[in-house]
Amino acid sequence: LRNKYLEAIAGAGDEAALEDLRLQAVGKKGEVALKMRELGKMTPQERQIMGPKLNALKDEINSALAGKKAAMADAALDERLRTEWLDVTLPGRHRPQGSIHPISQVTEEVTAILADMGFSVAEGPQIETDWYNFDALNIPGHHPARAEMDTFYTHRADGDDRPPHVLRTHTSPVQIRTMQAQGAPIRIIAPGRVYRADYDQTHTPMFHQVEGLAIDKDISMANLKWVLEEFFAAFFEIDGIKTRFRASHFPFTEPSAEVDIQCSWVDGQLKIGEGDDWMEVLGSGMVHPKVLAAAGVDPNEWQGFAFGMGIDRMAMLKYGIPDLRAFFDSDLRWLRHYGFAS
Ligand code: PHE
Repeated sequence: LRNKYLEAIAGAGDEAALEDLRLQAVGKKGEVALKMRELGKMTPQERQIMGPKLNALKDEINSALAGKKAAMADAALDERLRTEWLDVTLPGRHRPQGSIHPISQVTEEVTAILADMGFSVAEGPQIETDWYNFDALNIPGHHPARAEMDTFYTHRADGDDRPPHVLRTHTSPVQIRTMQAQGAPIRIIAPGRVYRADYDQTHTPMFHQVEGLAIDKDISMANLKWVLEEFFAAFFEIDGIKTRFRASHFPFTEPSAEVDIQCSWVDGQLKIGEGDDWMEVLGSGMVHPKVLAAAGVDPNEWQGFAFGMGIDRMAMLKYGIPDLRAFFDSDLRWLRHYGFAS
C-alpha cells in the first residue's frame, strides 16, 4: 500500500490527480481508513503493532502529498517566470500613422499663400440651387455652358416645388453668396469640392477648385495679373515664373482670360517654370456687371476680378502626378510612393 501510493503521488500530473489520490488513500473512505476500521477486529497485540504503523503510513502519505503539492506550485511559478517576461529594452512597436491627403495639403498651401496677400476664406454649400450655380452668374437656362458643365441634378419628387438643386459645378456661386452676405469691398477665396459628370485621366466627377474674388472701387486686370504671378511664384517656389493670359470667354466675367504657366516636357516628365510649352491652370476675368447686380452690388460703384483654379490640377503639377484619379483611390501604396503616407 505504501509503495503504491508514494509512487502514484510522485507521478501525479496535476493538482486534481493529487486530490484524487488523497481521497483514495487517506480520505474518510480511503484505503488507510478502511484498514484502521479493521483494527477493531484485531487482538490487542496485533492492534498495538498495526495501529502505530497505520498512523505512520497516514502521516507519510500526507507529507508526500504536501511535498508534491509544493513542488507543483514551484514548477508552475517557474513556468510563469519563464513565459511571462517583459524585455523593457525592446524598441516600441511602430503603429501606422494617418497623414494629410495631398489635396488637403495643397488646399492649405494655396490658402496660406493667398491669406498672406489679404484674402480671407469664404464657403458655400456643395448642393446649390440652379440660380446660384448658373442664373446669378449670367448663365441663363438656354445657355450652352449649362450643358457643357455636365451637371449633376438632384432628384425631385413629383409636387416638390422647391427650386431645382444641383451639385455645384464650380466654386463661382460662392462669389454670389459672399457679395449678398457682406457687400463690397470684398477680398475672399473659396476653396472646395465641385462636381461634373466626367471621368478620364485628368477628370474625376468630384474635384476641387479655389475661387478668388476681389471687389473694390478701382480693381483692374493688372491687379489680377500681379496676384496670380505672386501666387504661382510662391506655390511652385520659382521666382519670376512666366504666365500667359489668353483671351477667353466666361458668361460671368468680361473681359475673360484663361491663364497658362510656363512648362516643358523632358523625357515625358513635366517641368514647371522652364521651356516654351504652356499649361492651362485657371479661368479668370473682371466680374461681369450683371453678376454684381444679381448679387446686390452696384456695378456703377464697384468692380473687381475673379478667378477659379483647379486645386487637383495644381497638385498634379507640383508633385508630378500623371493620373488625377489616383488621388481619390485611397490606395496606401500610391500615397506612400509619393511620400504622402508613412
Ligand atoms: N468657374 C469657372 C470654371 O469652373 C472658372 C472661373 C472662375 C472663370 C472665375 C472666371 C472667373 O471653369
